[in-house]
Amino acid sequence: MKTLITGCSRGIGFGLVQEALKAGHKVYAVARNTSSLQKLASQHPEQLTLLQIDISQAGAIDELARRQSAEGLDVLINNAGMMTQGETAEDLAQSFWVNSTIPFLLSRALLPTLQKSAAPRVAQISTLMASIHDNSSGGYYAYRSSKTALNMLTRSLAIDHPQIAFALIHPGWVKTEMGGSRAPTEVSESVAGIWKVIMGMRPGNSGQFVNFKGEALPW
Ligand SMILES: NC(=O)c1ccc[n+]([C@@H]2O[C@H](COP(=O)([O-])OP(=O)(O)OC[C@H]3O[C@@H](n4cnc5c(N)ncnc54)[C@H](OP(=O)(O)O)[C@@H]3O)[C@@H](O)[C@H]2O)c1
Repeated sequence: MKTLITGCSRGIGFGLVQEALKAGHKVYAVARNTSSLQKLASQHPEQLTLLQIDISQAGAIDELARRQSAEGLDVLINNAGMMTQGETAEDLAQSFWVNSTIPFLLSRALLPTLQKSAAPRVAQISTLMASIHDNSSGGYYAYRSSKTALNMLTRSLAIDHPQIAFALIHPGWVKTEMGGSRAPTEVSESVAGIWKVIMGMRPGNSGQFVNFKGEALPW
C-alpha cells in the first residue's frame, strides 16, 4: 500500500509517517522542510520517500499529481494545517488557502491515481473546532471556519466519488506545537487511533466526521 501524507515535518504528520511505516506502507512524506525526517528516511530507505515541497505554492499540486500518477497511491492524508487567532483579511485568506483549498485541490488532483487503487482512501485531518454544533466558546474565526469549509468540501467529494472512501478526522487535543503542552493527548495515542480509523474506512462509510477513536462528531 502507498500512502502520501502532508505536513510531515513535526507533530501529528510526523507521527503518522511513523505509523504508516510500522504498517509496512510505502510512504511519501511531504514537508516544506524535510530535515527532521532525514533520520527516519535513512532507517527506511526503501519504504520512505521524502518530498520537500511547499504545497501552498503554485505548481506544487500539479507536481505531486504527476509524481503519484507514475508511482500509484492508495491513501492520501491531508494533515498540513495552520491555526491563527488573527482576524484580518489576510489571516482568513491564508487559513482558507492552507486548511481547506489546498486539501481540496490536492484530493481532487490525486483522484485519477487513487481510482486505480483497490482500496482508495482520503483522510482529511479536521478538528472538533470546525463543528458548528459544538461551538460554545467562539473565537478562532479563521481556523474554525476554514476547517468547517474543509468538512463541507470533503462531504461533497464523498458524494461525487462513491468508489473512494473519504473521512474527516479530529485528532483529539494533541501535544504538538499547535496543540501546546497542556493538551491531554500524546501524538503516539492520536496517530495510532487515526491510523486505525483510516484502515477501517470503506466506500460504504464515506464522508463521516469522526474523532481519532472513530466516534461520530456533530457537524
Ligand atoms: N494539535 C491539536 O490539538 C490539533 C487538534 C485538532 C486538529 N489538529 C490538526 O492536525 C493537523 C496537524 O497539526 P499539528 O498539531 O501536528 O500541528 P503542528 O505541529 O503545528 O504541525 C503542522 C504541520 O503543518 C505544516 N504546515 C503549516 N502551515 C503550512 C503551510 N502554509 N504550508 C505547508 N505546510 C504547512 C507544518 O509544516 P512546517 O513545519 O513547514 O511549518 C507542520 O508540518 C492540522 O491540520 C491541525 O489543524 C490538531
